[in-house]
Amino acid sequence: MSQDELKKMAGKWASKYIEDDMTVGLGTGTTVKFLVDAVAERLNNKTLKGIRAVCTSSRTANQAKGLGIPVVDLNDVSHIDLCIDGADEVDEHFQGIKGGGGAQTLEKMVATNSLRNIWIVDASKMVKQLGTFPLPTEVIPFGCERVFTKLKWAGLEPKFRLDDAGKRFVTHNGNYIIDLHLGRIDHPHKLAQYLDRQVGILEHGLFLDIVDEVVVGTNDGVREYKA
Ligand code: A5P
Repeated sequence: MSQDELKKMAGKWASKYIEDDMTVGLGTGTTVKFLVDAVAERLNNKTLKGIRAVCTSSRTANQAKGLGIPVVDLNDVSHIDLCIDGADEVDEHFQGIKGGGGAQTLEKMVATNSLRNIWIVDASKMVKQLGTFPLPTEVIPFGCERVFTKLKWAGLEPKFRLDDAGKRFVTHNGNYIIDLHLGRIDHPHKLAQYLDRQVGILEHGLFLDIVDEVVVGTNDGVREYKA
């Protein structure tokens, strides 16, 4: 099966965890796109009603609105019942890297305001150790060269992310992404604490102790893991 078919399988499967009248967090990315399609299908065929969605990017919000899913702002809800999002890597301790699409700040806000978090991934995202996927950090433009230099001195192999036109990639919040090309992350919590302390880094893509369940699309069907 293609990677897209595996992503679709995971997205469709996870849509069944959404119940009537829930406030749902919808992540960002190619896997979530399939989830949003499946949620809209459930609303259309009346197996689901009364939900509202808090979206982690304008991409997801536009898709959801276009399909008739009511979208609300995070500021206008007291909590989110369930957040479903993709991930770039998930290790055997259910720690993750997110932010391949540059949306990790909004994704982490929505995830940490949710009572339950599910990640939907294809089998290639399940890894023994985090770090092959470059770790995204969102940096504010003011002083970003200083932040870059500090990250370089710390041996974290930083690179500004570029867009298709070769210019610096700009996030939803008007910031830049510096990806850390680490190869392997031996101590995710220690690294997260270091990045949390760096002034100028708005948020990074280490999502630690956040996910409750991972839904994986594999060639042998869907596998579900509880963290
Ligand atoms: C967006 O910033 C990311 O965190 C995505 O959730 C992650 O990159 C997974 O994306 P795909 O579903 O497109 O692989």
